[in-house]
Amino acid sequence: MCRVRLDPHSYADDEQPQTRAIDLALRADFQKRTLEGEIALHFREAGAGIIDFDTRELRIDAVTALDGAPLAYELQAPDSILGARLRVTLPAGARGLRIRYGTSPSASALQWLEPSQTAGKEPFLFSQCQPIHARSLAPLQDTPRIRITVGTARFKVPSRLRTLMAAAAKGREDGGGGEAVDVFEMPQPIPSYLLAFAVGDLERRELSHRTAVWAERPVVDAAAYEFAETEAMIRAAEALFGPYEWDRYDVLVMPPSFPFGGMENPRLTFVTPSVLAGDRSLVSVIAHEAAHAWTGNLVTNANLNHFWLNEGFTVYAERRILEALEGRDSAELHAASGRHDLAAALDRLAARPKLTCLRTDLRGIDPDEAYSSVPYEKGYLLLRKLEETAGRPAWDAFMRSYLGRFRFQSITTDRFLEFLEAQLPGVAAKAGTLAYIDGPGVPAGAPEPRSTRLDQLRLGEVEPRNPTELLVVLQSTPPDAEKLRALDARWGLSQRRSLELRHNFVLLQIRAGMPDAVDAARRVLLETGRMRYLRPIYTALARRDPAAARRIYQEARAGYHNIARTVVEAVLKEQGAER
Ligand code: BES
Ligand code: ZN
Repeated sequence: MCRVRLDPHSYADDEQPQTRAIDLALRADFQKRTLEGEIALHFREAGAGIIDFDTRELRIDAVTALDGAPLAYELQAPDSILGARLRVTLPAGARGLRIRYGTSPSASALQWLEPSQTAGKEPFLFSQCQPIHARSLAPLQDTPRIRITVGTARFKVPSRLRTLMAAAAKGREDGGGGEAVDVFEMPQPIPSYLLAFAVGDLERRELSHRTAVWAERPVVDAAAYEFAETEAMIRAAEALFGPYEWDRYDVLVMPPSFPFGGMENPRLTFVTPSVLAGDRSLVSVIAHEAAHAWTGNLVTNANLNHFWLNEGFTVYAERRILEALEGRDSAELHAASGRHDLAAALDRLAARPKLTCLRTDLRGIDPDEAYSSVPYEKGYLLLRKLEETAGRPAWDAFMRSYLGRFRFQSITTDRFLEFLEAQLPGVAAKAGTLAYIDGPGVPAGAPEPRSTRLDQLRLGEVEPRNPTELLVVLQSTPPDAEKLRALDARWGLSQRRSLELRHNFVLLQIRAGMPDAVDAARRVLLETGRMRYLRPIYTALARRDPAAARRIYQEARAGYHNIARTVVEAVLKEQGAER
């Protein structure tokens, strides 16, 4: 009875029926901070006997056959990483089942925001399911090995708010009592981590026949300006990787607490408001999330041991899109900045070298804790190495056939390697691929982002002429108070809207022991909940001034997502700055 689990983060068992489609009907209760309702799960084939689902902090009210006949079930004791297994006994010939349930106010996938925490001063609710939080939203087989469509999803919400789902909108019905029901369907099969919705007072601006931005009223015009190049990005990606398979591509600007830069929810990218720099300098985030429509959403990692297949390919695709739109030098600058991030991640993970391999073994490890730039930037380096080894034309043809061969499938690193060998024999070995996949750190002979412009900027021979160039300069500046004051006087770094620039500047200020560092750090930490900025600043601050780190966290905590709180608390603990 000791089966090998094919996904270290799911109770789903390969010998049991697999879900093919779901229906959802949920009511959002903003007072209680719960979702209440029902999920129907439809199987690929009729089954019988035991079936296991993933849940986290769910209250299960009833489990029935599709016709309503009650079924026996057991909600087991929770595991701290996986959550609780829900075990149901199916009658012979079962084609699906229904589960009535409610979520917890502390559901890890959800954040319920007070009006004071949003731009429009209205309540806001959003989900973030990647990597393993969908199970706190609904009982399901929460593994990307299993792809599902959504027949109908119905969200009952206060009628002055609106639900957006990463799905096709099917209209709004009156729900009575000041409530409305927003209806959706998702015809393309997706992994559970791509289930996503948000509820708020949202407005739309069209960008092209198939793209639009959504945001709260006070920011929607700024968002439309910032993301005006979205259609051009999709076109560039189509030219490189084949047709866009998801109909619409919309972008939803989230409240500041959103813990990521962006999330590639299908048809509807969620993006942090911190990309609204006012000068389109941070739109690589959109290039990245749009690229996921091919790498990640079309061809998906089978489980989180192969997360690099999602993110490494996507960083590679993102930089190819940027190269097509802005030229080689610009893509090279982004690659250089990514190399800087990778060096910092390798530093941080020095004591955990296994987490610096592309292929990981995350049994017993919380994927939110294992998260780093490694699968992104080391994955990018491998794919660039493969491109350089095969030559660009052959590599581009490979990319297209890879995406075509595995479209709407979930795969492992081995499937990729087999296909690579079949299509481009000998290239993997010549590039030293396994040293990237199963070896720690950066292999000797890895590609190094290079351009004349980059060298000139680093040597101080030319002045930066845009924010990306300024970032590269900042990243090669030593933590020297005098130098930093001069840079600030010249470029107004401490006043920049761009947190990409400001957080790097703050990190240097902290390392240089400058007296204004704590206040500058505090301003960033109160302004955003994006973990990319929180983690390094709390880490640096907790080393220098643990009391300040603790004090600022107490002040800022309410504005952070659960996932971010866990990460910051772990940082403070590691640095001995916990209370
Ligand atoms: N899919 C990720 C975000 C993610 C990863 C959420 C793992 C939960 C678990 C998204 O595509 C991403 O990579 N976002 C980056 C931005 C990007 C420009 C590198 C981020 O949030 O910083
Ligand atoms: Zn990504």
